[in-house]
Amino acid sequence: MDRFRIEGPNRLAGTVRASGAKNAALPALAASLLTDEPLELVGLPRVRDIMTMRKLLDHLGVDSEQEGDSLRLVATDRASTDDAPYELVKTMRASILVLGPLVARLGHARVSLPGGCAIGVRPIDQHLACLEALGAEVELEHGYVTARAERLVGASFRFSTPTVTGTENMLMAAVLAHGTTVLENCAREPEVVDLARLLTGMGAKIDGAGNESIVIEGVESLAGTRHTVIPDRIEGGTYLIGAAITGGDILLEGADAADLAPLLEKLAENGCEIEELAAGIQLRRQGELKPRDTVTAPHPGFPTDLQAQYMALMTQAEGGSTICETIFENRFQHVSELTRMGADIQVEGSYARIHGPSRLSSASVMATDLRASACLVLAGLVAHGETQVDRIYHLDRGYERMELKLQSLGARVERLE
Ligand code: EPZ
Repeated sequence: MDRFRIEGPNRLAGTVRASGAKNAALPALAASLLTDEPLELVGLPRVRDIMTMRKLLDHLGVDSEQEGDSLRLVATDRASTDDAPYELVKTMRASILVLGPLVARLGHARVSLPGGCAIGVRPIDQHLACLEALGAEVELEHGYVTARAERLVGASFRFSTPTVTGTENMLMAAVLAHGTTVLENCAREPEVVDLARLLTGMGAKIDGAGNESIVIEGVESLAGTRHTVIPDRIEGGTYLIGAAITGGDILLEGADAADLAPLLEKLAENGCEIEELAAGIQLRRQGELKPRDTVTAPHPGFPTDLQAQYMALMTQAEGGSTICETIFENRFQHVSELTRMGADIQVEGSYARIHGPSRLSSASVMATDLRASACLVLAGLVAHGETQVDRIYHLDRGYERMELKLQSLGARVERLE
């Protein structure tokens, strides 16, 4: 099992490029099920979740071939199955994104329920309620959801809570439905907007993506297209926080400052100097690191996927701060590991109270989920001595060769097999 060995403290300086967004790439891959024409996706990140989704799509009959920086996908009828099996789905919850496209195009689907994960129960009730509103018959049996519909029919549906993959799944269901669909209380994340851009490029008629309500005019069929996924704002934000926590100075190339606004505003309040350049985002932090309270919220609020990384930063701030996690019920697993490194953090329900600055000492720590592992790597960069972060496979799900990118910024980090 791979682990990182990090020598600290040292500062990050130099230029790093954001990879394509994992959470835009996953729905884009699922969209290949919506057409029998070739779909070309450019700039997909080389991370494990993408390989997992390609394996699932292959099982469903989608051939995919990497041609340089572009992945070419063609859905065929070679597979005699509409079934997304548990052994594939259990390794990645985002597999649920094949449900909407399968029902939209084939009229039936059988997808294993994703089950919970380290950060929470993460139900999919809204995906299923919306699919029923579009006329599908949905049943839950033996840990699988089966859905069938002669043809989905446009309808109005209001999500009880903004759900990113729920909005994406239902966008892909509605684009081939008969008639008009109005989705309310939608997720507004940039990855939802990117999927709508891809579907529109395939011939879908979508209005309002990025707002709370989206109107979709169903069409008879969709064509192939060539689409470049947006840069990964969470990966990029992680490196920006790395520069802030180490008192460094980096240029994050290829990042979209508008998508990172919630983080950039916060880091500016913390005392970072930020410049939005044509080439990307320049961030340096030389002076005092000021504490600031944060509450996670659906976009355009502060992203829950940067909460753990930001908490590592707050352990170095001059004073007290609180972080309130409003999206997931169990996303403070990194606290115990940070505390072992010497951080001063108390958790009360959905609040974490951090008192800084703490002199973090190196330790052997263990990652529990994708973003918690990123948090521990950032802590290792400022801790005194050699920190080992175990179970790096969590990181590999969503960060493309993180050790190489950190080394290019001057970090003393190595991957141990
Ligand atoms: C997406 O997960 C992301 N994953 C997550 O990123 C991210 O943390 C999350 O959105 C929130 O931004 C992908 O895009 C592949 P949700 P998703 O449905 O869609 C509740 C990472 O680190 N809910 O927006 O599963 C749910 O319990 C991952 O890359 C329901 O109650 O999250 C949660 O409290 C981790 N019923 C809230 O909504 C539903 O049917 C938001 O969840 C669906 C969701």
